[in-house]
Amino acid sequence: MKMWSPRSGQALDPDFERWQRSFEFDQRLLKHELAASGAHARALKDAAILSSSELVDILQGLEKIGDLAATSAEFLQDSEAEDVHHFVEKQLVALIGDSGYKLHSGRSRNEQIATDLRLYVRAAIDQQRADLAEFAGVLLEKAERAGDAAMPAYTHLQRAEPVLVSHWLLAYVEMFLRDADRLADCRKRVNVCPLGSGAVAGATLSLDRRAMAASLGFDGSTANSIDATSDRDFVLEFVNALSQLALHLSRWAEEMILFSTQEFGFVQLPETYSTGSSAMPQKKNPDLLELTRGKAGRVIGNATALMISVKGLPLAYNKDLQETQEPLFDSAETIIALVPLVTGWMQAMAFDYERMQQAAQSGFMNAWAAATYLVERGVPSRLAHQQVGRVVQKCVEKACEIQDLPLDELRSINPLFDQDLYTSLTLESVLAIHDVPGGTAPARVRQAMAAAKRMIETISEGVNAHP
Ligand code: ARG
Repeated sequence: MKMWSPRSGQALDPDFERWQRSFEFDQRLLKHELAASGAHARALKDAAILSSSELVDILQGLEKIGDLAATSAEFLQDSEAEDVHHFVEKQLVALIGDSGYKLHSGRSRNEQIATDLRLYVRAAIDQQRADLAEFAGVLLEKAERAGDAAMPAYTHLQRAEPVLVSHWLLAYVEMFLRDADRLADCRKRVNVCPLGSGAVAGATLSLDRRAMAASLGFDGSTANSIDATSDRDFVLEFVNALSQLALHLSRWAEEMILFSTQEFGFVQLPETYSTGSSAMPQKKNPDLLELTRGKAGRVIGNATALMISVKGLPLAYNKDLQETQEPLFDSAETIIALVPLVTGWMQAMAFDYERMQQAAQSGFMNAWAAATYLVERGVPSRLAHQQVGRVVQKCVEKACEIQDLPLDELRSINPLFDQDLYTSLTLESVLAIHDVPGGTAPARVRQAMAAAKRMIETISEGVNAHP
């Protein structure tokens, strides 16, 4: 039996009937639907709509549905179920008889879908935060292992200043920890319970909303039934947070691809995550990284599709809202599959520290240090900049680095240059002068690694503390 009867008694056009169903994709909400239905059944019992034995029958029936779904793939092959709500009702009635129909007393699918989606997003957030903590943990481990190794930092993709490899890796740790934090923030607005909101105006029975919310691990109930049944802000927020994460993953992947080219040669691609070419026998291709970069397009596309779907909807529930499900599932599942893979890739890759170190010592990346040398001796920084510019020009003409120029030539540009300049130009000195919180001086980077470690631990502990 359907969950509703047509006013006219006329049957639906069969093509339309099939086309409007959502069970094919909303069946992934089954376990949340069962949990929310259990909470509703208990509230019905407290409101004296269900007897104790009816409640027991319903709860056992719901449990059985969960077991069957977990053990038999065929169980979910239902060509009649309109959506997951209809499926559960049908199966419940098949298991316990007509008292199964009592479960729907005083509730509407509008509040059910809003509740199921919140439970789905909450579980996805907890999973993704745990995954991000793992990924950040591997990036941090690589940073710890990099020791004193240096590399060029780029601006405009031109060599800019040398940095510790660990400092560069920590930049990614920051990005991914921000993503984890954004998800935690989103979770606060996700974790309120719409149950008891009815179709639009509130439940028609006096149901204990607080008890339903608490039993499902929500922090509280939604405040307004019209908003609760039509609000998908939590979906948009979540999918937007995932878009930003996908974007970070894409930037990370792009840089790894670039650094693995023979031209850079900083990164060795792991065999276990790379593919060959069907034509060119020498090839090793960074497919995992390329697909990671590519996935950003679909995740960002989903966020856009969602916003356009809800734009212009009048209050409250409209069937358009069914269209918010697939982009949500696609983004959530894309990220849940992706982050553990990039974690594995990062674990398996290797750096060519020698090449990175060599690159860190050429290309005049100590020019700013030479200018700083003059500034510390009283030269106005604009003039110091100009003078070191002339020094670099000389080097370009002679095809050498600044430290290769003899002192008298340097003195012809500014007599304040002295023998100790050469010490200021070494890689160690150049790194050391960036001695500010957040800078690449080795002691500062060690502090930053300790701070990142604490943040990662806090996330892992927080995720484990959730129900
Ligand atoms: N499958 C529907 C959806 O995802 C459930 C809610 C149906 N509500 C209704 N009034 N037809 O939106």
